[in-house]
Amino acid sequence: MVDFKELIADSILSEELGLTKEEIMNMIEIPADEKMGDYAFPCFRLAKALRKAPQLIAADIAAKAGDAEAFAKVENVNAYVNFFIDRAFFAGEVIDEVERRGADYGKSDGGAGRKVIVEYSSPNIAKPFHIGHIRSTVIGNALYKLYDAVGFDVVRINHLGDYGTQFGKMIVAYRKWGSEEELAKEPIKALLGYYTKFHEEAKEHPELEDEARETFVKLEAGEPAELELWEKFRTLSLEEFTRVYDMLGITFDSYAGESFYSDKMPRFIQELKDKGLLIESQGAQIVDLEPYGLGAAMITKSDGSSLYVTRDIAAAVYRKEHYDFYKCIYVVASQQNLHFKQWKKVLQLMGYEWEKDCIHVPFGLVSLSDGDDIKMMSTREGRVVFLEDVLNTAVAKTAEIMRDKDAQGVDIEEVSKEVGIGAVIFQELSNNKIKDYVFSWDKVLNFDGETGPYVQYTHARASSVLRRAQDAGADVENLGSIDTAYLGSDSAYTLAKLIYRVPEVVIEAAEKYEPSIVTRHLVDIAQSFNKFYHDEHILVDDEAERNAKLALVKASKTVIANCLGLLGIAAPERM
Ligand code: ARG
Repeated sequence: MVDFKELIADSILSEELGLTKEEIMNMIEIPADEKMGDYAFPCFRLAKALRKAPQLIAADIAAKAGDAEAFAKVENVNAYVNFFIDRAFFAGEVIDEVERRGADYGKSDGGAGRKVIVEYSSPNIAKPFHIGHIRSTVIGNALYKLYDAVGFDVVRINHLGDYGTQFGKMIVAYRKWGSEEELAKEPIKALLGYYTKFHEEAKEHPELEDEARETFVKLEAGEPAELELWEKFRTLSLEEFTRVYDMLGITFDSYAGESFYSDKMPRFIQELKDKGLLIESQGAQIVDLEPYGLGAAMITKSDGSSLYVTRDIAAAVYRKEHYDFYKCIYVVASQQNLHFKQWKKVLQLMGYEWEKDCIHVPFGLVSLSDGDDIKMMSTREGRVVFLEDVLNTAVAKTAEIMRDKDAQGVDIEEVSKEVGIGAVIFQELSNNKIKDYVFSWDKVLNFDGETGPYVQYTHARASSVLRRAQDAGADVENLGSIDTAYLGSDSAYTLAKLIYRVPEVVIEAAEKYEPSIVTRHLVDIAQSFNKFYHDEHILVDDEAERNAKLALVKASKTVIANCLGLLGIAAPERM
């Protein structure tokens, strides 16, 4: 496809300006007001070197640059040269490119030959996979897809929280109050129950805490009885998580969680000692980070057991050695900002210069508005909502809405899954990730708002136009060469421009770790498509006009489906 900035730079390039093509391209602006053209080239900077008023320079350039087929008009307004792209030419370029690349439109290859790790979801096993984890899960999955789309080789890691003192508590509680049958029936709910009971009992019997600590030390030492129970908890929890991942269409390349690093830590503890970074504090080993305003990072406890940050140090080095990543992205809630700052600082002090390539991508909290009818559970941490219940509720509510709408020919059971789950994912991604936000069904499932269902509905609408055209005899699969002169209206042009920008938007979203840039653009495309749909008669009698408009509908449909796909959301044909 024509790179319009490049085309403009070529038309401006001349020896007397004394600028390289690259420099010209960087100077080209996109005017906020469309009346000032699609692109503008400011001439202020040239005045000094050329000893000429900038307006005159602009007028000279405009007079020379006008004749390319791609420009409808080139004119100067004061010191600017304004370029108006020929709308028919533009639409033709965009439509051809989408047609040619199909499902790959939006992808690029800037990342080729480099590896990126995206670590996400990472729930704590034996604890509920609650609504707070959903953000890490869906943001991480979108980042994986975005990095994949810009050409990187991406490794998806689920850094399971499958280790630590809480497993000592869980084992003690299970032995005292648990049962095999209970565990098999609803493992996570059962384990959570034991955990909660442990804390209740420990209030009266503080010696339980000691027992739990000793049990964890045994586990870390590899005692068979403890290991066996731990393994059982892990397997059962993972089965339950997998059910949720299946609903979301998410998979991982590795489930190497915290326990994976349990035997890899002595090396780093020794290394920290050798580098003179460890100091003793009340029996524990710490790295003093006071000089950096980061408190202290505890590396081992007084009983010798390891900590969360210790395992993260081991994990980072292991990943660097094993994968030789270009970037390692950690999608973890902003509540853990301090942890990640401390951990990065320790890696830096250890002399690992690649620490700068480890990136914590934080996100804000999800809270619930009162009166939302999601099943709640109360634990030591407060109200917990199971993600699976949220997804099931979303599907059930969507099915209800669809039944009310009496959607014809729609497989409600199937489509309500795509739309209900898609709605939750879209909602999670469309909030600028750093902000806290309040979850509300009315917002999530609003078919007319800036939501997943709205975008999916637009996709289904485009599909339906194409089906109707097909029924009326148009050869939608092969529209042949089209006369893009019919695509000169404002609404067609705005839509084509948004489609043109998709590859840049994908790159920007990946670079900024911000999937909401894609959701925002998708909403713009959907709104623009709907305006085109309302403003214009698409299925007109004139075949040339109809085919041109159908070609734009088809391109819109492809692009919406591709972008939804990058977010992990389905694009239903009917809804
Ligand atoms: N398991 C942790 C939690 O649920 C998140 C793990 C984040 N990843 C990491 N490498 N520390 O809070």
